[in-house]
Amino acid sequence: MSRAVDRSPYSRMAITLHWVIALLLIGNLVGGLLLDSFLDSSDPAMKKLGFQIIQLHKSFGLTVLLLTLLRLGIRVGSGFPPLPSHMTGLERLLARLTHYGFYALLLLIPFSGWVMVSASPLGFPTSWFGLFEWPHLPIATSKETSGAASEVHEILAWLAIGLIALHVAGALKHHFFDRDDVLARMIPALRRRSA
Ligand code: HEM
Repeated sequence: MSRAVDRSPYSRMAITLHWVIALLLIGNLVGGLLLDSFLDSSDPAMKKLGFQIIQLHKSFGLTVLLLTLLRLGIRVGSGFPPLPSHMTGLERLLARLTHYGFYALLLLIPFSGWVMVSASPLGFPTSWFGLFEWPHLPIATSKETSGAASEVHEILAWLAIGLIALHVAGALKHHFFDRDDVLARMIPALRRRSA
């Protein structure tokens, strides 16, 4: 028997933000991990492309930071739908940890990137999609601080990759094994007609 509901309990805005942030996060993870192969290239054209990708990477990343703050505001203001009643205590704990983990990473990954470029003695400016210069954080420039922030940025990015795998596995389990409406709440086209 399908445990479907007829309407998603998430607002259109919450669903849109979920998918836009997911796309930007995955794009920045892929772009970030590919960066070094451009920057370390001996071909000047590839190097130049690498610097253009960094500017885009920073712009998308700062956008993730802003959209996540908006999404958190909506979540605090409108609450969130309850998890299905058939979930066990352990499943609920895992689901909550994954969701809070995402919020933490969606704030901390861009923030550590911002600290990295703000503290960098190289002092490269950050142009938000070429529209205006994004300010640096008011912190002292230091190779050590910038290097530590870079390490944190990379470790958190790998944690995000692990969390995405867990999150997708959970969503697929809900849809194909539990046959409940959890995935359909975020992809309304998947909604099953109530049996
Ligand atoms: C969703 C947000 C973001 C994600 C998922 C992300 C992810 C990544 C990843 C995976 C790397 C490669 C790490 C490595 O292998 O060393 C990277 C590098 C980098 N990120 Fe981000 N990032 C984000 C936001 C930002 C922001 C907001 C900034 C700065 C304002 C930033 C600045 C940088 C820089 C400068 C590098 C290159 C470091 C280097 O190799 O010199 N990132 N990022």
